[in-house]
Amino acid sequence: EKGGYDYFMLKEIAEQPKAVADTLLGRIDASGSLRLDELRISAAELREVDKIVVVACGTAFHAGMIAKYAIEHWTRIPCEVELASEFRYRDPILDPRTLVIAISQSGETMDTLMALRHAREQGSKVLAICNTNGSTIPRESDAVLYTHAGPEVAVASTKAFLTQLVACYLVALYLGQVRGTKWGDEIHVVIRDLSQISRAVERVLETMEPVRKLARSLADKNTVLFLGRHVGYPVALEGALKLKELAYMHAEGFAAGELKHGPIALIEEDLPVVVVAPSPRARSVLHDKIVSNIQEIRARGARTIVIAEEGDETVAPYADHLIRIPATPTLLQPLVATVPLQVFACELATARGNEVDQPRNLAKSVTVE
Ligand code: F6R
Repeated sequence: EKGGYDYFMLKEIAEQPKAVADTLLGRIDASGSLRLDELRISAAELREVDKIVVVACGTAFHAGMIAKYAIEHWTRIPCEVELASEFRYRDPILDPRTLVIAISQSGETMDTLMALRHAREQGSKVLAICNTNGSTIPRESDAVLYTHAGPEVAVASTKAFLTQLVACYLVALYLGQVRGTKWGDEIHVVIRDLSQISRAVERVLETMEPVRKLARSLADKNTVLFLGRHVGYPVALEGALKLKELAYMHAEGFAAGELKHGPIALIEEDLPVVVVAPSPRARSVLHDKIVSNIQEIRARGARTIVIAEEGDETVAPYADHLIRIPATPTLLQPLVATVPLQVFACELATARGNEVDQPRNLAKSVTVE
């Protein structure tokens, strides 16, 4: 049932191009517009929304952080993202014009369920993004957009995360489409790019051998840091979470701009630091800043592992290890940038003799608060 792979996690990593394609299937029409009639929230209702709040836990929360960048950019609707476990305890401001998006692979996470119940009590509409048909979270939501990742067995989430991202992009683009924004042209281009992104994920998977080799060489390290900016920041957090749960290593993700406000004190000789470099084309200011961050940490002895777009030559001189990913629109980059980090964590866990599919102390669905 592992389809020839040693672990479910490896199988599920390999299934990502298909999971991404399946989640898009039937949702883009021949004219390149989105068709999300299944949402059961009318276009009129979506036009009334004046605030969006995303609630989720763990990896799904990282998808939510990326959703915020996409939603605010394409729709100009203010969007907050909050850990489901914190949400209802701080008396959040919610009303019928607030759309709450609950993201959950299992559909059974108690923290997320309690957050959505609280939101509905305040009169807000809840849209679930979920991978499990008929589970509690979609049943208790006003609307649902299913991710089509197929069953995810490994405790560490991989293909579900990529499909959560796809679903978040679809919601953001759809909101932009029904409300009409100044990004109308961009939205069309991105829908087209999204429809082709599964091939890019496949290409990343074809080039993972050097990443595995690098991971094995770091098996005796105690700490790995991850840095990113913009959507690269949640990707850094996700890379660190994967390493914690699978390799049982100290791993932390930072927004690269925060480095100088404290974490740079952690940098020491030969410390592995993974940096997610944004596309050099779209947001050049962002890219210049990450290049100087890489220089800063390298000057202090860090071993720099840089994830950068094909053709991005400016980072190369400062990278001890360079991991190439295909060029994508900035906001879609997490779909390709996360994949090497999954492979990296899985290989490190194996090298350290850990149980990949069943990490210690963890359960696949967390049904207690
Ligand atoms: C990490 C992981 C967890 C889950 C989190 C939410 O690899 O799997 O962090 O993402 O427990 O689970 P769902 O998405 O089922 O609500």
